Amino acid sequence: MNAAELRSLAPAPQYEYGGLDLLSTAVLLVDCAGRIAHVNQSAELLFDTSRKTLIGQLAGRVLGDDAEMQHLVTDAQANAFGQRDQIMELRRIGRDPMPVRVAATVQFGETIPLVLEVTEIEQQLKVDREERRIGLTSANRELLRNLAHEIKNPLGGVRGAAQLLEAELASNEQREYTQVIIAEADRLQALVDRLLMPHRSPRVVSEMNIHEVCERVRLIMVSEFPRGLSITRDYDASVPEFRGDKEQLIQALLNVVRNAAQALDERIAGGDAEIVLRTRVARQVTIARALHRLALDLSVIDNGPGIADELKDRIFFPLVSGRDGGNGLGLTLAQTFIQQHDGMIEVDSRPGRTHFRILLPLS
Ligand SMILES: Nc1ncnc2c1ncn2[C@@H]1O[C@H](COP(=O)(O)OP(=O)(O)O)[C@@H](O)[C@H]1O
Ligand SMILES: [Mg+2]
Repeated sequence: MNAAELRSLAPAPQYEYGGLDLLSTAVLLVDCAGRIAHVNQSAELLFDTSRKTLIGQLAGRVLGDDAEMQHLVTDAQANAFGQRDQIMELRRIGRDPMPVRVAATVQFGETIPLVLEVTEIEQQLKVDREERRIGLTSANRELLRNLAHEIKNPLGGVRGAAQLLEAELASNEQREYTQVIIAEADRLQALVDRLLMPHRSPRVVSEMNIHEVCERVRLIMVSEFPRGLSITRDYDASVPEFRGDKEQLIQALLNVVRNAAQALDERIAGGDAEIVLRTRVARQVTIARALHRLALDLSVIDNGPGIADELKDRIFFPLVSGRDGGNGLGLTLAQTFIQQHDGMIEVDSRPGRTHFRILLPLS
């Protein structure tokens, strides 16, 4: 909303901003000193506080903090922006702070320079969904871990007994059966080991550079798929170093990129398969309810067929696989490692474009 539209909402001078009460969006007008000059009815509802209490208060007491608000007012006065969208924290008495989307509009040349439109975020809903999903997968993982332990111990016994039996057997034909038992026991053993893996190896945390991770993964992929697949690098060199477990992140990214390459087999045959590795710095990112000022946005984008509809909601679950020979652990492991870095991984997929987005907090 711009200044002219805002004025057109005002029916009469004595009730200057009355029109704002017709809006379903919460609106705050902030003066040069960073104090609330006016709020509409929707804002009273959202802030759960009366207009009388709000007017005259420093806006930074209820939205963001004083410094953040002052910054906004100063920028507005300096005409540093016309409109700016940001996520700020809304504070209400007796409740948890809640991130909200704040669209700030400058009224050039007015005594009240700043109009803030505050909306509850779609993102909030997304966070809730994400939390439910994390809850679900961690319950799943717990179950699998216990199951894996239960399988592991008797499995050793089965294998050992088959070996003893084999030594006793007279004919080669009979030995074929014991060979099957031993081979299958080994296969199960390997699966169980993979299930238990993320919880086994100790984490090694150090100062690290994400582009070293990307490059390592890229080189591995180039050697696995030497022809028909181009891997495009779109790196933002300003991404700062951060503390993390490099090997874990290599494994996580490798799993995501390898899936993309595997999904691209037809295009690889045709020679126009592409995977983009992209890094960016993201600001004001909410991950599992925590608001981070800075985060790394690491994206893997492929031009393959997309994720099958029936798998879309479940690909991060253990043992969910859409391909022959898949064990369905790649994305589970990637998600585990990323969550151990307080990050998240999400996907957006349609035929021709699948985008895995990894967010890792930098601050
Ligand atoms: N980029 C992608 N494009 C299409 N499908 C994908 C992509 N990434 C993952 N998938 C689907 O998600 C499934 C699960 O992946 P993952 O957990 O790594 O297990 P696996 O690779 O062993 O099947 C894959 O089998 C595949 O069907
Ligand atoms: Mg995989």
